[in-house]
Amino acid sequence: MSKVTVIGAGNVGATCANVLAHKDIVKEIVLLDIQGNLAKGKALDSFQQAPIDHYSTYLRGTDNYEDTADSDIVVITAGVPRKPGMTRDDLIATNAKIVKMVTNSIMKHSKNPIIIVVSNPLDVMTYAAHKASGLPASQVFGMAGILDTARYRAFLATALKLSPKDIQAVLMGGHGDTMVPLPRYTTVAGIPVTELIDHAQLEAIVERTKKGGGELVELMGTSAWYAPGAAAAQMVEAIVKDEDRIFPCCVQMNGEYGLNDIFLGVPVKLNKSGVAQVIELKLTPSERELLYGSANAVKVVIDALNSMNI
Ligand code: NAI
Ligand code: 2OP
Repeated sequence: MSKVTVIGAGNVGATCANVLAHKDIVKEIVLLDIQGNLAKGKALDSFQQAPIDHYSTYLRGTDNYEDTADSDIVVITAGVPRKPGMTRDDLIATNAKIVKMVTNSIMKHSKNPIIIVVSNPLDVMTYAAHKASGLPASQVFGMAGILDTARYRAFLATALKLSPKDIQAVLMGGHGDTMVPLPRYTTVAGIPVTELIDHAQLEAIVERTKKGGGELVELMGTSAWYAPGAAAAQMVEAIVKDEDRIFPCCVQMNGEYGLNDIFLGVPVKLNKSGVAQVIELKLTPSERELLYGSANAVKVVIDALNSMNI
């Protein structure tokens, strides 16, 4: 049974810990935040839900990295969330400092963890965490694609008046407005979605998905947490249970899709070793062009981060 640490006991971190506890698949979850009492309070509240919802996972809140010792998996959600009018990239300097400091502190106490990054701007923070950790790239990757795909699937389910359970999809690229949903790979219970919805409606859903994070920021004054927390917990589950699941995750590109020196969302196989394989789809020229556009947008922010010398 594994030990999982979630850094950041805010909206996303606390939700991730709570959803993961409900899965009852790990021995202990440590919730760490610089606001120690917040972490302690949310962990205690979550564990007091255990007798009601029947799980044995123990939750502990802390502000001390010694409590994270020997974690198998660490989820990093620490950072500042996006406020109305802010792009994810506006967050770069603040969150890069936090992610670097957090990663260094994790690595002092856990020898060989798998790190899942959630903090924004996601692709660049994953790059920063990988660099700071010194771990193989297969062990440091980011959560965004499961969330973005879930939004796309939820919008489709609403439009088609069908269960979201039956909608399967894949989405690639950076976690931003340049993300690349792939209608060609979208099915409803095995039926190509293009047979069930007209082109204009599908295009509108693709566009709404690209701005899905911003839509929620406008509604709530801060970014989303239920679906993001659950998405990160689903990645932990695939690792803990060695499931060999295929999910879109933000990973280092080593020549796949002709890309190098960048972290970007692509479908991967997740199991106990982390990213076991990058799945290379045969993209059409126009899909490839969109992917490269997205990769360029991420590269600009990575270059900006590198020029800041953080
Ligand atoms: P939040 O403000 O509710 O929580 C962030 C927590 O991080 C706070 O409790 C804060 O005290 C803590 N924190 C700040 N600096 C810290 C440090 N140095 N060490 C430990 N804890 C620290 O924010 P929320 O909504 O939970 O979002 C967290 C991050 O996740 C943001 O960067 C947000 O943009 C990102 N996000 C990413 C998504 C994705 O798809 N990748 C989806 C949703 C949010
Ligand atoms: C989201 O997509 C803001 O990245 C955050 O909800």
